[in-house]
Amino acid sequence: MTVGTHPARKKVMAERILVCVAWPYANGSLHLGQIAGAYLPPDIFARYHRTKGNEVLMVSGSDSHGTPVTIKAEQEGKTPEEIATYYQEEFLDSWQRLGISYDLYTTTETQNHTEVAQDIFLRLFEKGYLQTKTVSQAYCPKCQRFLPDRYVEGTCPHCASPNARGDQCEACGKLLDAPDLINAHCRTCGTTPEYQDSEQFFITLPAFRDRLLDWVRQQTHWRLNVLNFTTRFLEEGLIDRAFTRDIDWGIPVPVDGFEGKRIYVWFEAVIGYLSATKEWAKLQGDPEKWRDFWQDSSTRSYYFIGKDNIAFHTIIWPAMLMGYGDLNLPYDVPANEFLTIEGRRLSTSQNWAVWLPDYLSRYDPDPLRYLLSINMPETTDTDFSWREFVRRNNDELVATWGNLVHRVLTFTYRNFDSCVPAPEEIDERSQALINKATEVLNRVDELLYGCHFKEALRSAMDLAHEANRYLDEKAPWKAIKADRQTAAESLYTAIQVISALKTMLYPFLPFSSQKLHEFLGFDGSIEDEGWKLQSVPPGQKLQPPEPLFSKLDDKVVEEETSRLGSAY
Ligand code: MF3
Ligand code: ZN
Repeated sequence: MTVGTHPARKKVMAERILVCVAWPYANGSLHLGQIAGAYLPPDIFARYHRTKGNEVLMVSGSDSHGTPVTIKAEQEGKTPEEIATYYQEEFLDSWQRLGISYDLYTTTETQNHTEVAQDIFLRLFEKGYLQTKTVSQAYCPKCQRFLPDRYVEGTCPHCASPNARGDQCEACGKLLDAPDLINAHCRTCGTTPEYQDSEQFFITLPAFRDRLLDWVRQQTHWRLNVLNFTTRFLEEGLIDRAFTRDIDWGIPVPVDGFEGKRIYVWFEAVIGYLSATKEWAKLQGDPEKWRDFWQDSSTRSYYFIGKDNIAFHTIIWPAMLMGYGDLNLPYDVPANEFLTIEGRRLSTSQNWAVWLPDYLSRYDPDPLRYLLSINMPETTDTDFSWREFVRRNNDELVATWGNLVHRVLTFTYRNFDSCVPAPEEIDERSQALINKATEVLNRVDELLYGCHFKEALRSAMDLAHEANRYLDEKAPWKAIKADRQTAAESLYTAIQVISALKTMLYPFLPFSSQKLHEFLGFDGSIEDEGWKLQSVPPGQKLQPPEPLFSKLDDKVVEEETSRLGSAY
């Protein structure tokens, strides 16, 4: 029983949006740092654009190759395939329970991905952007094998952090090659590596520097941290980068004489965005449909990643795309900063992390989505604490938003025969609130369009506060005794505002918002209704309301913090 048609979707041209989400290594459970940094923001963004009526494709998958996976396999006495398959299943389950709404979540292990990756390799090779060079590659005499970058650890030559890896220093973000490390040693056994000659492929990044600089300088809509990092990187100059290795887990180099070598992970994983789009198109039964998302220049692509991955997405992947030709470059790369846990830098090896499957086994998804959004590390690092989780759940979700909904719906349900009251007139105060709701809906629209998630959620919550104040003033539960009409008017008004809030909160809180949509007497999904104040007509039958959120006991704080850092 919906009202009217969809005026918001008059034949305005729909926009086409490709939402690219970082590919997590299939080597361990997901944790809240990754969720806040890279996986929740694109879901909010995709849900928002779908509600706007835009054509959205959100793709990602597990990064199944690479040393993080082989290291884990060795630790567990399993094969890399077994590890990757195990985590692929766990991730799929986590996405579903947290409501991360991929159109396709695949893996780098598909035949399709191998084909696409090798095609890119060969095209870049033919066009002269790849070269072979003899490099001295780290070799551990004790383990008797070549050491991939991540197997070599040592001191960073740039920032002196003692825990740098042979591919990158996590402390300063600089990309490294293993021989750059000071006091390099094998991460498995601690032996100082030897270096042996080996022929590898390099991508000639300097050939792209000027084009990249020109392009980056036009990206004035990028976040400042992303723009500055990238510009600095390019101004310091680029060097050829090796991207094949003597390993056996990965995609074979499609060139004679390189049978024992594999395409190394960073070069390969970013190709996943394209290969996943192609896989999705095939699954749709429309194999050419990928072109809409990669070759139509009006399509905008957004890459949601953590700040440790910026260079791969603003320099290396764009260089690969430029070299390949005829594929869209990223429109935006809204990289997030890091999430600390209880004031300390997150560390998976020390179990200083909150694991998503643990969280989901004990709590509802929306309170986490709420906290990680209102406290999103968009421009600075932010902190997750269990105290804040409980406080924001209780004070904001339960006491502000949930309570607004619950008191309005239960009171209406009981006193107006479970139907939306019919007001005779709407006074100025009430009309002002309804107008305000429309304004906020537009404001949230703009903010989400520009990937300002935290601010968007704050604006919506401010409106919920205001609706509570309105209700306190109007006090329909008192008014009803003297004058049913006054009560009908304020409840009707509050219901309209709640309906507006349901839409603007939907990208953040999809589960509770959809529930509320049904309590309000609608069927179908909020996404199908479109981004508008969906009015709830007088007389519409409400469904029996239930609380949207539940209060959490203070003892959660202690229970959960004591799990941190303990052996698991
Ligand atoms: N799996 C890598 C990481 O988690 C890379 C992710 S982003 C990708 O750091 F684009 F490279 F897939
Ligand atoms: Zn060793």
